[in-house]
Amino acid sequence: MQQVTIERLGHKGDGIAAGPIFVPATLPGEVVEGVVENGIMAAPKIVTPSDDRVKAPCRHAKSCGGCQLQHASDAFASAWKTDVVARALEAQGLKTEIRACLTSPPGSRRRASFSAKRTKKGALAGFHRKGSDIVVETPDCQLVSPKIAASLPLVEELAVLGASRKGELSVLVTESLSGLDISVTGGKPVDSPLREALGALGRKYDLARITWDDEALTRLPPVQRFGVADVTPPPGAFLQATPQGEAALLASVREALGPVKHVADLFAGCGTFALPIAQDARVHAVEGDKAMTKALDLGWRNAQGLKHVTHEARDLFRNPLLPDELARFDGVVIDPPRAGAEAQVEQLARCQIPRIAFVSCNPVTFARDAARLVASGYALNWVQVVDQFRWSTHVELAAELEFKG
Ligand SMILES: C[S@@+](CC[C@H](N)C(=O)[O-])C[C@H]1O[C@@H](n2cnc3c(N)ncnc32)[C@H](O)[C@@H]1O
Repeated sequence: MQQVTIERLGHKGDGIAAGPIFVPATLPGEVVEGVVENGIMAAPKIVTPSDDRVKAPCRHAKSCGGCQLQHASDAFASAWKTDVVARALEAQGLKTEIRACLTSPPGSRRRASFSAKRTKKGALAGFHRKGSDIVVETPDCQLVSPKIAASLPLVEELAVLGASRKGELSVLVTESLSGLDISVTGGKPVDSPLREALGALGRKYDLARITWDDEALTRLPPVQRFGVADVTPPPGAFLQATPQGEAALLASVREALGPVKHVADLFAGCGTFALPIAQDARVHAVEGDKAMTKALDLGWRNAQGLKHVTHEARDLFRNPLLPDELARFDGVVIDPPRAGAEAQVEQLARCQIPRIAFVSCNPVTFARDAARLVASGYALNWVQVVDQFRWSTHVELAAELEFKG
């Protein structure tokens, strides 16, 4: 038995005491006691709790591995996420205004990736237990929207229909304006009886679309609205996790761009930023996934009153836009995946684009990329921390870079 004091949280949300000893579900300043094995105190007794400790809002918090910070107050989680950004910037020698974290409310996640298994009695659906592949049922999950939560019986039915005896289904459930959009992987291959049963399930639950591996059964196109444009994304396509988070990021992007005329939206997805920006400026949207650029283009073509939007399917890691291609833009939006945008930023650093709106889901790669831009004459004016993944350790941000020369 050992007694230790938690000094800080690691990037996965575990408390860390001198040693280092990792202690799950603890907070800085807490004195905890327990058996330490291989540097981990797996079952700590909290001797002195932090003032920031709260009763977990969700009854599944202990078993479910979906959330890591349910034991922390909202104020603590926001300050911690802001500090994660501050440390990442500091490590690259960057200083700027860091705006307080904007956190999406409980019950706002409009997409969830559930796991489902067949059991002797039928099926169970939910999220994985902490650190294991056991599925725990989460009917009272506080994170997802009511419509997503209400889809769990449907997810169970999908497992009964199409999970193999020992396998596990991954079921991505997304809200759309025309009903739920479901993507299933990991099940049996589709055959005629399964196809028929999926059709019946689609009618029973009023689904917009159900995609089994690569086969989509569409009753109604599952529409996402970006600005005034209605877009039908391909199955499983990227979507910002909450409407509130998307609105916060878009507001930051608009502010960072200022009054621009021609914008390049790099890593554009299905047009989350490109289409709203097209209400005021021409946009060239570049994205690696052809089906997503196609959806974006169709959304633009069917919308009224937007400025011209061009699109290009292009791998921006291997084949970034070059300075002569970037020269025509007075603003750039860049929203890369977690790896960041090293190759594209290298090219941007060789240009003098007045404004860059940088959106990132990884403060470390963001800081690396922003430092490259700052070294070549851009000022990092501010960073807005955005939390679409409350109770988790994910941190997102939007930032304004301005060319100063
Ligand atoms: C964080 S998402 C942002 C999408 C969009 N900006 C949005 O907010 O909906 C990153 C996007 O980058 C795309 N992507 C990933 N790797 C890429 C690459 N090498 N080249 C171009 N696009 C890529 C993904 O398909 C995804 O749509």
